[in-house]
Amino acid sequence: MIVVANWKMFHTPSQAEMLSKSLVSTLSPKLSQVTNDSQACEVVICPPYVSLERVKTILSPADSSIRLGAQDLHWEEQSARTGKVSADMLADLGVAYVILGHSEQREYFHENNSSVNKKIKAALSNNIKAIICVGESIEQREMGKVNDIINKQILECFLGISKEEAIKCLIAYEPLWAIGTAKAATSSEVQEVHAYIRSVLSDLYDHETATKIQILYGGSVKEENAADLALIRDVDGFLVGGASLVAEKFKAIIMAVLSSPA
Ligand code: 13P
Repeated sequence: MIVVANWKMFHTPSQAEMLSKSLVSTLSPKLSQVTNDSQACEVVICPPYVSLERVKTILSPADSSIRLGAQDLHWEEQSARTGKVSADMLADLGVAYVILGHSEQREYFHENNSSVNKKIKAALSNNIKAIICVGESIEQREMGKVNDIINKQILECFLGISKEEAIKCLIAYEPLWAIGTAKAATSSEVQEVHAYIRSVLSDLYDHETATKIQILYGGSVKEENAADLALIRDVDGFLVGGASLVAEKFKAIIMAVLSSPA
């Protein structure tokens, strides 16, 4: 399993430093104590750009099971793009993962499947794994369009991505109506969409490749529902927003994952 903390636009660098120190001191020993019966779990922390370096200093060289992630990048190589950050800059800082195509990027900053596709290619060329967000709005769900939306997002985001590259990508299913609402999707809703994502990947590549691509669920994951969500067959991890901003809440989610059956 893999649990990714998306801190969004929260926490100053000083707050980020305190939170990551607290997470590392508690989680590092637990993550390295995995036995045959318990679940292995990798943790990724994605702070805002301005805190990447500080968080990296705390993570390194403590433990490779807690990795650094970014929340976006620009697909161009270093060039005149005021306000943007390139993939090689992130790689140089030790960033191992990047979240791409988050619904907030799509809603507020004109992100679309074509820009996500270019960003995935830039990330992979710099050895950064791409966490690609997909998901439907409540209106699309009510109109019975979930599969159509997810299919289009995956096909367009993965355009021109080989299967060797695809296995360095993760997909995060984040239904828009479950983000920040305290109303997570039910286990059957999650399994239905994750299985569909797996089938789209299987058609696009092959069965083996589809099983290697980790599919995360995001949307109101909390300590109260993490254990149940972790039991779902096609769930390989979580992308956590609000609950990742508070040390005790995020630790409780990780503990729930670690104690779920392997
Ligand atoms: P919440 O966990 O706050 O619902 O946010 C989910 C999310 O958007 C993670 O990327």
